Amino acid sequence: MISPATIQQIQSRIDIVDVVGNFVRLRKRGGNYLGLCPFHNEKTPSFTVSPTKEIYKCFGCGKSGNSISFIMEHEKYSYVEALKWLAHRYNIEIEETDVNPEQKQRLLLHESLFAINNFAKNYFSDQLFNTEEGNDVALSYLKHRGFREEIIKKFNIGFNPSENSAFANAAIKAQYSKENLVSAGLIAERNGKIYDSYRGRIIFPIHNQSGKILGFGARLIGKNDKAPKYINTPENEIYVKGKILYGIYFARQAIDKADECLLVEGYTDVISLHQSGIENVVASGGTALTPDQLRLIKKFTNNLTIIYDGDSAGIKAALRGLDLALEEGLDVKLLLIPDNEDPDSYVNKVGAAKFSDFIKENKKDFVLFQLEVMLQEAGNDISKKSAVVNHIAATLAKLNKVEDFIKRQDYVRKISQTLNIEEEGLNDLVNKLLREKVNKVLPPVGEKLFSGEPSAVPEVEEEVAISESDKFEFAVLRALIEFGLKEWEGETVADHIFKEIEDNELEFGNENNLKVYNLYREWYLNGSKPDASGFLYYDDREISSHVVQILDLQVEISPNWKDHYDGKIFTREDLYKEEVRYALIYLKLRKVKSLIRVNQQEMQKAETEEQIIILKTHQLLKVLEIELTAELGGVIFK
Ligand code: GTP
Ligand code: MN
Repeated sequence: MISPATIQQIQSRIDIVDVVGNFVRLRKRGGNYLGLCPFHNEKTPSFTVSPTKEIYKCFGCGKSGNSISFIMEHEKYSYVEALKWLAHRYNIEIEETDVNPEQKQRLLLHESLFAINNFAKNYFSDQLFNTEEGNDVALSYLKHRGFREEIIKKFNIGFNPSENSAFANAAIKAQYSKENLVSAGLIAERNGKIYDSYRGRIIFPIHNQSGKILGFGARLIGKNDKAPKYINTPENEIYVKGKILYGIYFARQAIDKADECLLVEGYTDVISLHQSGIENVVASGGTALTPDQLRLIKKFTNNLTIIYDGDSAGIKAALRGLDLALEEGLDVKLLLIPDNEDPDSYVNKVGAAKFSDFIKENKKDFVLFQLEVMLQEAGNDISKKSAVVNHIAATLAKLNKVEDFIKRQDYVRKISQTLNIEEEGLNDLVNKLLREKVNKVLPPVGEKLFSGEPSAVPEVEEEVAISESDKFEFAVLRALIEFGLKEWEGETVADHIFKEIEDNELEFGNENNLKVYNLYREWYLNGSKPDASGFLYYDDREISSHVVQILDLQVEISPNWKDHYDGKIFTREDLYKEEVRYALIYLKLRKVKSLIRVNQQEMQKAETEEQIIILKTHQLLKVLEIELTAELGGVIFK
């Protein structure tokens, strides 16, 4: 922490005209100063600085504050970073409090890595511009690709000579420790000898958002199939790949102004776009975006436009991790560059104006784009299409913030139109996923749904007993008696049925059914192998005739299940599993339906506050109902 004394010293020393003057050209106008606002685009100045009040205010966009908030806003610094910037500017030594030795050690290591990288950056730049090899091999290559000196210098591009250890020697001579040079990834030691890691490569320094060098990307000159095109700094205390966005230092103000961040794959894409005047652009380095990177973007804007090559690798990379972006609340658009071009080559081909127009006209909503791609892949295959529905619902469920509600509804409407499915069905599916996310796991049917209202449960059971037919119970018992000893995922069907019934608190409303169930269970747990004959010769006549009824009944477990397996020849194995599964689903469904009914009755009696809980319960139950119906093969396609 920066000590209060230091903060006070900084505050007493800062001159707001000077601070703002670092970034804005100010003209004196009466007692105040006036300039073009750095926070929005304007042609006539309305940004006013008052030296006596020590504040600024823009009469165009309304931004206002003091020196510290100016630095924070303009440089996207935290409070502490802003103070450090000001302290540095006014040569005030920062007194830090509360730093433990471990922290100090770490800070020291950070500092030395930054210092080494800074040295390296200067060294590589000098090599590029001021040596014969640099000029002939590297600079000429860069110029040939269309990079002008101005942009090469702005991005601190450099060159590591091809000689074995030119850089290493220079760095060690300048007193940098070998150990830290290795950590920085700049040199490597092999058989007692040291080598430069990036021999003969063009060097792209990677800046953090305040301009310090975190590491490097080192590119081969020209083509070479034997070596990787790029070598990057290995992960170390300051180079954490997942947190880096190449170009953020040069892009931040443009992103802020445009309220949009363009994301490309490569270093050269960033640089070329900058050169053509499109500056709100960063690169991810060709990997899927991480939450840290997304958060960094979110510091500046909510609008992310991803610009990738049209090839499939590019698309895949773009789609990966993008659900994360939605989760972070970003509005994601996608733009594919056609014809095997990348942004670098494309902007060089068509120019900045056409490129900008191309972005505006062709960027697509990410979610809808994803849908398009998946639908193309699915073709007419109905099960693949179902998978698409599930996938897209999962994507929409990432829009889980309260403020995302309208966005989500909008998507549901558009997508159900595209898919030609019921809007309501998709909505329910999304809601189900949203709820799952909140609850982590879906509670088993019936369980805990009424945790707030225990009185509701007993009533349900009565309801079930009198109002539902017995055929669902028959189906389960028949499956149990006929197939109970068969295999079910490593255990037996009987084990599975017992577990399902217990976990979901499923009930047998018919007294004889319950008796049969308990009897089977008792025999089974005793180790005898119950089957139909055991029941048929059981000395309770009522039970044995009841079982005859169960076994005789030709329960149509699922009238349409055969349709789902057209063409396939069934084995006995397939059939019993389907039968067990469907029988249990029907029993669960019956329970859910009766819970819904009871809940609706509750609704009429309830006080206003209770009604909300009941309404929520109703929604949950409806979702379960739909889910179970869907499991039975109730496909939601029209
Ligand atoms: P140019 O081919 O010079 O235009 O470079 P580029 O930046 O366009 O490279 P490309 O589109 O092939 O790759 C995009 C990004 O992926 C690069 O900027 C690198 O960050 C990364 N990348 C590409 N090739 C490699 C590689 O061989 N190794 C590593 N570590 N990263 C690579
Ligand atoms: Mn490229």
